[in-house]
Amino acid sequence: MSEVRIGRYNDLYFKSIEFAGNRKVKPVELVADNRKFWEGESKNISWQEDYQTVLEGEAPFYRWFEGGKLNASYNCIDRHLGSWTRNKAAIVFEGEPGDQRVLTYNDLYREVSKFASVLKRMNVKKGDIVTIYMPMIPETIVAMLACARIGAPHSVVFGGFSSNALKDRINDSESKVVITVDGYWRRGRVVPSKTNVDKAVDENEFVENVIVVKRTKHHIFMEKDRDYWYDELMDWADRDWKKNVSEPEVMDSEDTLFLLYTSGTTGKPKGIVHTTGGYMTGVNSTFRRVFDIRDEDVYFCTADVGWITGHSYIVYGPLSHGSTVVIYEGAPNHPDKDRIWDIIEKYGVTILYTSPTAIRMAIKWGDEYTEDKDLSSLRLLGSVGEPINPEVWKWYFEKIGGERCPIVDTWWQTETGSIMISPIPGKTPLAPGCATKPITGVSAEVVDEDGTPVSNGGSGYLVVKEPWPSMLRNVYKNEERYVNTYWSNFEGMYFTGDGAIKDENGYIWVTGRVDDVINISGHRLGSAEVESAVLTNDSVAEVAAIGCSDSIKGSVICLFISLKEGVEQTDDLKAEIKEAVRDEIGKFASPEKIIFMKGLPKTRSGKIMRRILRNIGEGKKDLGDLSTLVDRTVVDDLIKSNQI
Ligand code: WT7
Repeated sequence: MSEVRIGRYNDLYFKSIEFAGNRKVKPVELVADNRKFWEGESKNISWQEDYQTVLEGEAPFYRWFEGGKLNASYNCIDRHLGSWTRNKAAIVFEGEPGDQRVLTYNDLYREVSKFASVLKRMNVKKGDIVTIYMPMIPETIVAMLACARIGAPHSVVFGGFSSNALKDRINDSESKVVITVDGYWRRGRVVPSKTNVDKAVDENEFVENVIVVKRTKHHIFMEKDRDYWYDELMDWADRDWKKNVSEPEVMDSEDTLFLLYTSGTTGKPKGIVHTTGGYMTGVNSTFRRVFDIRDEDVYFCTADVGWITGHSYIVYGPLSHGSTVVIYEGAPNHPDKDRIWDIIEKYGVTILYTSPTAIRMAIKWGDEYTEDKDLSSLRLLGSVGEPINPEVWKWYFEKIGGERCPIVDTWWQTETGSIMISPIPGKTPLAPGCATKPITGVSAEVVDEDGTPVSNGGSGYLVVKEPWPSMLRNVYKNEERYVNTYWSNFEGMYFTGDGAIKDENGYIWVTGRVDDVINISGHRLGSAEVESAVLTNDSVAEVAAIGCSDSIKGSVICLFISLKEGVEQTDDLKAEIKEAVRDEIGKFASPEKIIFMKGLPKTRSGKIMRRILRNIGEGKKDLGDLSTLVDRTVVDDLIKSNQI
């Protein structure tokens, strides 16, 4: 597989990048000892007290920079106030309706300090988890940094999740305070965030207060003594915040900075725990190395702050460097399909970090939307979230990068906290469709079932052999799950859940998940999570949710359903089932196809044969070996039924 891909694009298999920009990048020296390397990188973070040891512990419990004291918000704000960066744009915001706002580092300092004092007055204490359910507006970043400032871990829940999904996350984290908006703009319509919060916190025993940022100004319900307008709290804080404001809380390196819920193989999402010192070192270091960041850069990341990409490469990485970050609230095709390119032209964006899905969508919309745009400010492009097909890479390289900008295809995960595998611009020869090699300090490897490294085009499992600073520390309140999911497959190694190929040049080609995690347009979902949503419908007896490959979205969800005795297969029922998934998870999880079967294909031991279902969902003629099926007629009947 790797040969085919490389061979086809030999002309694009760049020896080196002469065009990393107009500066010669100093190659990062290879350091044999990862600890030494990360110790050096940690010096770029401001510590209030030095740590005693770089790394302590053993698999799977590691502690980085123990004894060190720091504050993440200090690193993202205060330390930029002493020089010209005080008045540098930190956040450049573009709302979907076209409104704009710029916050300098000084503005960010004022807003974050004020909001930190608001949270303190609301009795949020160090260690309390605060849920943030917000869209891509500056206040979301202010809220995150204010939490970090007072030592309250945040749990940001992506604004596209439904009230039910939000409720589960609020309950698991036992948040006393939820920060949200009245609503936000998406394709010209209002997404009713506050209404979702109302449903999620109804009869909730933990939530005491809800803070509401005014964004769309539509009418919403405000519960007395529970809900407060952000504006009003901030106005009040404005009068005396200077008096009120205290120095950023002194945090231990291993204190939790945030939780971020992500999908795994079981129905319940897990709260990934990230701590302070190691995480800040990881994101600061990788943002500098992978994006070759410079003072004058205008950096635009199209991810949502509700996912790890937003945490690491909109908030903590870029702001810890004093960089200018462009954020956009809405949909890429509103009011028209050139919105992203428009934003690049308008603000003179130099670095774009986006997903293969977004690029595939743009290709589908047609070149006319990019052709008349001035994208000459760009000097570096990034891709994240899923494998990027070589064809898509080529289009990105030619049409967006003008054959001038290197593409950094960055492989990493919610759990890894920061980028693990990526080319370094100016140093690593690029291979379209390949994240190339682990960056310095990361010992990612492709191994076979026994944990032995593969080479020369061999395929296997992607693991990480040595600890790295921004690694997850635990699954919140579920250590067992932490150990079982990540540390039980290969002795002493972290298992990523991905399959990969290692080619003859030592390049790693990530092929995708080998577990039941589905990646839809860069949004991560578990099949079990979708299946439990479907089972909330009474007519369903059994269901399998399968991620089937799709030329635009990477994967789409196909549901294979057997109904209870006597229930009729109708379109209305399909609509109801779709609705159940939207209610339980969110619109983005909506299944693409629903296929009714009289029973699901199973082996003699009762295991659903997902491989066969995947082939059906992908429209393949050859369904593969059916001989181990207990009841072949379930498949034969389906073929006769005209559904596929
Ligand atoms: C999964 C992690 C990391 C931020 C966004 C996703 C897939 C991610 C790549 C890439 C191939 C990739 C993997 C991984 N993935 N980046 N460059 N090439 N696959 O974070 O939601 O935690 O998902 O995304 O399958 O395991 P996430």
